[in-house]
Amino acid sequence: MRVGFVGWRGMVGSVLMQRMREENDFAVIDEPVFFTTSNVGGAAPDVGRDVPPLKDARNIDELKAMDAIVTCQGGDYTTEVYAKLREAGWNGYWIDAASTLRMEDNAIIVLDPVNRDVIDAGLANGVKDFIGGNCTNSIMLMGMGGLFRAGLVEWVSSMTYQAASGGGANHMRELLKGMGVVHAAVADELATPASAILDIDRKVAATIREDVPTEFFGAPLAGGLIPWIDKQLDNGQSKEEWKGQAEVNKILGNTTTIPVDGLCVRIGAMRCHSLALTVKLKKDLPLAEIEAIIKSGNDWVKWVPNDRDITVKELTPAAITGGLQIGVGRVRKLNMGGEYLSAFVIGDQLLWGAAEPLRRMLRILIE
Ligand code: HSE
Repeated sequence: MRVGFVGWRGMVGSVLMQRMREENDFAVIDEPVFFTTSNVGGAAPDVGRDVPPLKDARNIDELKAMDAIVTCQGGDYTTEVYAKLREAGWNGYWIDAASTLRMEDNAIIVLDPVNRDVIDAGLANGVKDFIGGNCTNSIMLMGMGGLFRAGLVEWVSSMTYQAASGGGANHMRELLKGMGVVHAAVADELATPASAILDIDRKVAATIREDVPTEFFGAPLAGGLIPWIDKQLDNGQSKEEWKGQAEVNKILGNTTTIPVDGLCVRIGAMRCHSLALTVKLKKDLPLAEIEAIIKSGNDWVKWVPNDRDITVKELTPAAITGGLQIGVGRVRKLNMGGEYLSAFVIGDQLLWGAAEPLRRMLRILIE
């Protein structure tokens, strides 16, 4: 199999390359070929074997020679190239991190630990477009997939706490710069234990309003939060909120829609997305049974008992970032009744939220 890689140098692409090296994926690809939009003829990345120099990612003939193309180049590239390639008669597999094609009828959203059945049925039916899901939805389903698979979910209210990485590398940098600006404004006072906290707070508030950089987020994030992610839709939802129900149901291949809705909020975490869920179950099950079902979802579920000390240690970005485990905790019955369950789900936005489902889809094609 000849596999072309586009957008391997960006943030998601780099995480993908790192994971593929860790899992020795390049050894099982007959011919990995790297494409570029800016450095044709340059050296391909080190993947532990000889690969040809970089090819032009806009050259349809070069792309057509691939059996599969994996792209993390972004939605604009997909819009520019995908249709031309199909019109030119290319019938290969298109594996894409961008959202552009996600909701197309002929595309499957890939998250194989959750929807391997949907992927296999698609492959059998000749589906060629396999698209990575929205990070928040992928993380939610990796955590709560067991309950969905058991057919126990009537609806989900999902309130999110989304990291800077979801915006991109520039957004992560802006968050950190903002943190530095806030600290610098009161560094002297902080070094003086006798200084008055309300004076410090007044300075910090003014700094957040006036000096924290907002170029990429459009509002100050350091020391605060932003209760809106992505575009505004006519119905009052943000685009990110709209994706919840649309994508979750598509990933699961549901014929009856499970309502999923809630507010999506950007917070000052680096690369861990979290969700506080209210799940309405179809029946009142004992917590021990619910725990067993959630744990059975997949190998990456990290069950965190609803205990204060364990939770503050294990169910945080500090504990989860950079790893493949999806933390699931704070699971308890809510005052609303025995069918109402709370849960807090947390995962690395760049791994299960972006790169990991793509590399696994490629593996499925190869094996
Ligand atoms: N839209 C997501 C976010 C990232 O902004 O956090 C991509 O899934």
